[in-house]
Amino acid sequence: MIIEFSPMSHKKVHDKDFPSWVATELSVLRFYQCEIMRALDYDGTLVGVTAARFPKRSKYLNFMFAYTKEQFAGRGHGAELQRIVYTLARTRGYDRVRSLINSWSGLRLQMRLGHTFWGQNVRGEVVVSNPLPLCPSGVLPEGEVPLHVRKVVVGTPRPLDATDIHSIVFGDDDKFRVDRHSVFDRESAIRSIERYVRL
Ligand SMILES: CC(C)(COP(=O)(O)OP(=O)(O)OC[C@H]1O[C@@H](n2cnc3c(N)ncnc32)[C@H](O)[C@@H]1OP(=O)(O)O)[C@@H](O)C(=O)NCCC(=O)NCCS
Repeated sequence: MIIEFSPMSHKKVHDKDFPSWVATELSVLRFYQCEIMRALDYDGTLVGVTAARFPKRSKYLNFMFAYTKEQFAGRGHGAELQRIVYTLARTRGYDRVRSLINSWSGLRLQMRLGHTFWGQNVRGEVVVSNPLPLCPSGVLPEGEVPLHVRKVVVGTPRPLDATDIHSIVFGDDDKFRVDRHSVFDRESAIRSIERYVRL
């Protein structure tokens, strides 16, 4: 259960609870002006982190990174932490969120959040853009494709459905291959894709 959500000090980026690749990733993201937020359990144990950019002169929050410690994974903390960031973003005047996904666990998290996927960029990353939850001002007119999506998606961008996601995950794309992540078995991945409903 998440009971605290707060900006992380630089010192904490090197929290010994994190694998070193996470600490490195967070240091790089901080360098690029990302805000890093942490989730704590009742007893103060660090559960996970998330990093986002709140750019000036933009209505878009940039979701950059999320990590949940392995022993807490799969309990909804990642999604919960993300929703808290979205609430904060709304209070700061943002109405949409964008991101690029380059891993199956990232894709699965964002499916759970109901994000809209528009296709893949030249690096094979899945391009995300959607209104923040409960934010009517972020909803685009029917059929309109966000500008940043039009600029980067290879081919014609369109909101992907479960069948498209299935082909990305079970196609040739190594980034999203379920069998690279032992915690995710094929059947639960298929169920998760079938449950996918956009915001
Ligand atoms: C992505 C990540 C932050 C999600 O954190 P989380 O706290 O596990 O997220 P949630 O509990 O909200 O679950 C999100 C989905 O992943 C599934 N999941 C996460 N960990 C799992 C595990 N160990 N076993 C089975 N399923 C798991 C959940 O079941 C859920 O899928 P569902 O909605 O289809 O059931 C976490 O998997 C992680 O740290 N991954 C490594 C870092 C990474 O690749 N981050 C993404 C790039 S930004």
